Amino acid sequence: MKIGILTIFPNFFDGVFQFGVVGQARKKSLLQIEIVDLREFAEDSHRTVDDRPYGGGAGMVMKPEPFFRAVESLTRAEQEAFHIALLSPSGAQFDQRKAKELSLKTRLLLLCGRYEGVDHRVAERLAHEEISIGDYVLSGGELAAAVVVDAVARLIPGVVGEGQSVLKDSFMEESLAHPQFTRPADFRGWRVPDVLLSGDHEAIRKWREEQALQQTRRRRPDLLTESNAAGEGEQS
Ligand code: ADE
Repeated sequence: MKIGILTIFPNFFDGVFQFGVVGQARKKSLLQIEIVDLREFAEDSHRTVDDRPYGGGAGMVMKPEPFFRAVESLTRAEQEAFHIALLSPSGAQFDQRKAKELSLKTRLLLLCGRYEGVDHRVAERLAHEEISIGDYVLSGGELAAAVVVDAVARLIPGVVGEGQSVLKDSFMEESLAHPQFTRPADFRGWRVPDVLLSGDHEAIRKWREEQALQQTRRRRPDLLTESNAAGEGEQS
């Protein structure tokens, strides 16, 4: 998979994709990340990428031309079309389902906005979708793009070992994760639940499932399907 990121702060990403799962994915050549400086596609010698808003108002708006020129240039260099997403607080909420959907694309291009916003023609005529990572306003799309890349990268086949980890991620669409413990079994008098030391795999599986459901009912009931929300047999 190839992910392009179009930004006016290319150095913002210097460290962020070197570590952990994303770093591994790049090392294994399962993921290629290309950071593109939007200013390279400005039309004037000052490399201007913003202008005052029509209709007045505070702040500056990012101009459409550099975005269109950049996308056209990147597209010419590729055999396959990019799926293009604009990071914006007005976008649809990013979640595990969307991460999975994006991980199936072979070419993904993330457009980072700044200032007070981006000319609406970029969202309407260039991007295939707008993505928000949450109901808060960041000072730009770069942090949001890094979040999207991380969540997507770990779902690319072969990036996380064939074990359970990614299966649990898909479980995350409907429920929170169960609590995890490691040694020591007794830390300052706080003991690990006996069932986890029992060696009884079926009992452990059931305990984990029930714990995950209980946590989800308490903290994120919106994630639950109807049958899980009912909470039959729950002791809390
Ligand atoms: N840009 C500014 N705020 C954002 C958010 N919450 N999600 C995505 N992009 C953004």
